[in-house]
Amino acid sequence: MITIKNEKQINDLKESGEILAGVFVKLKDFIRPGVSPMQIDQFVRDILKEKGAIPSFLGYSGYPAAVCTSVNDKVIHGIPDSAPLVDGDIIGCDIGVTYKGMISDAARTFPVGKVSPEVQKLLDVTKESLMAGIAAIKPGGRVRDISKAITAVIQPHGYGIVHSFCGHGVGFEVHEEPQIPNNYPSRGKNPRLKPGMVLAIEPMVNIGTAEVEILEDDWTVITMDGSLSAHFEHTVVVTEKGAEIVTGSLD
Ligand code: MF3
Ligand code: CO
Repeated sequence: MITIKNEKQINDLKESGEILAGVFVKLKDFIRPGVSPMQIDQFVRDILKEKGAIPSFLGYSGYPAAVCTSVNDKVIHGIPDSAPLVDGDIIGCDIGVTYKGMISDAARTFPVGKVSPEVQKLLDVTKESLMAGIAAIKPGGRVRDISKAITAVIQPHGYGIVHSFCGHGVGFEVHEEPQIPNNYPSRGKNPRLKPGMVLAIEPMVNIGTAEVEILEDDWTVITMDGSLSAHFEHTVVVTEKGAEIVTGSLD
């Protein structure tokens, strides 16, 4: 079942998203060579506590942290460790915020220090694909319009579009229906989009092939070929006109 959120719930979701957007603004300055993913996790926990918000991922299906930190060839769901970041790394930070009972979900991949033009391009294309996916949302349209728009941006660059994981409904739960594939074409359901739906759109893009595997910690997803991977995610509300982003801006 795809849930529809009412006006009050959407307003509360927007407050949740605003807190999350603020976390990312602070993280951008905090992330630099020498900082560890565990320090990032603690930094985010402290901000959320101060705001009276709850980290949605902590304890979700047993996940042990507030932030999923995915360095370099880690795609998603990396568990924060104490290894300091080094110049030239990239780190995906994926965070869920529960506030007034509403969950917003967003991710950014940050360059650490200075990255090569090749890596910056991966980040830029992944961002662009997320924005294109969101722009494709129209009430009466369908989920796969999003997948098609995301794929159209990424494919010309020859990057691997991860298809073992997708975007999803969000708001009342961390993961709700529908599943939103980033690859197109794809199998499965293709429901219509309706005002009041809340969606997390999240392309995961590898410089190499699309293949991924899960590490023995049962969480961390890495690229099979060891290539770098980027991940950007926004939570959006489907409106009468299109989609409204609730989790700030990617810049
Ligand atoms: N945003 C993540 C996703 O959509 C949620 C992480 S779930 C957690 O997959 F359990 F890892 F926290
Ligand atoms: Co998500």
